[in-house]
Amino acid sequence: MQKRVFSGVQPSGALTLGNYLGAIKNFTRLQHETNCFFCVVDLHALTVPQDPAALRENIKNTARLFVACGLDPQVSTIFVQSHVSAHAEMSWLLECQAYIGELRRMTQFKDKSTRHENVTAGLLTYPVLMAADILLYDADLVPVGEDQKQHLELTRDIAIRVNNRFGEKVFTVPEPYTPPRSAGGRIMSLLEPEKKMSKSDENPKSYIALLDPPEVIVKKFKSAVTDSGNEVRYDEENKPGVSNLMVIYSLCSGESLETIANRYSGAGYGKFKQDLGELVAETLRPIQEKVKELSAPGVIEEILDSGAGKAAAVAGAKLRFFQEKLGVR
Ligand code: TYM
Repeated sequence: MQKRVFSGVQPSGALTLGNYLGAIKNFTRLQHETNCFFCVVDLHALTVPQDPAALRENIKNTARLFVACGLDPQVSTIFVQSHVSAHAEMSWLLECQAYIGELRRMTQFKDKSTRHENVTAGLLTYPVLMAADILLYDADLVPVGEDQKQHLELTRDIAIRVNNRFGEKVFTVPEPYTPPRSAGGRIMSLLEPEKKMSKSDENPKSYIALLDPPEVIVKKFKSAVTDSGNEVRYDEENKPGVSNLMVIYSLCSGESLETIANRYSGAGYGKFKQDLGELVAETLRPIQEKVKELSAPGVIEEILDSGAGKAAAVAGAKLRFFQEKLGVR
């Protein structure tokens, strides 16, 4: 049987080059070899306050970007989490299998809970909803960036716990599919290369949004932090800024880090950053054009309706199966 793949992206603002290189690019690669479900996880976005009108727009834009980045709705199932009610229902059932202690230990919870004054219960149970997303589809593989690996580990723990409790395979135990850092697993901030590139960063100069105009992209790379030297060389530890830029260059051009280092040997950072800005702008150009086409009324809505129908059939059956196991059906 074909392997199943599930992954999700939050519609909580402009998607970044980190989302693309760390995750979405791999979705497109997997879709022809596996049975794929890609989800705009709008319920996850609610764990922090959102402007309703902006959220509604971001949900559609995220789905448009999925398709514009190369996901084929004829091949992959593309849908919105809240359109398939089994996600929220399964999340409750799994909350009753998860321990508060393990949820409190999640790095992202620790980070986010210090940044917000009122910490919602949703921020704590967030990874359980993520487990529900994945386990509903019996996903074998979950393509995610490095920052989500801990959540995936928790999903595996919950799946194994449930399987042990019932003495049979209730859920498939999923594997992460994460590239190493040198291949996009963790794209770093352009201003603070020790932090990951994030769409929730207050300073937009720290990230490239997939819909940034070409001149903005070029400018942002020009002001990207490098280091005091002038050698274009991959060294994650001592040259995190330059190394991050080299990874981006390599993923956008398809060239090895070594080829890039050789090309810019002696050229200095200025030329390298200018070329990189132009390369990224050129890489994103067709994606941006496709998003415009997909913005015609009704186009993305139709794709999402059809996706929700296909997803609900799979997720509903799994939900009923687990409800029966638990005795609530
Ligand atoms: P989210 O929306 O923050 O990010 C979406 C995907 O992009 C990856 N990513 C990165 N990869 C490399 N470098 C970066 N700087 C970078 N920033 C983000 C993320 O690792 C992720 O793969 N909780 C998830 C969404 C989710 C999910 C799921 C994922 C909900 N349910 C089920 C997989 C399976 C999240 O907030 O991702």
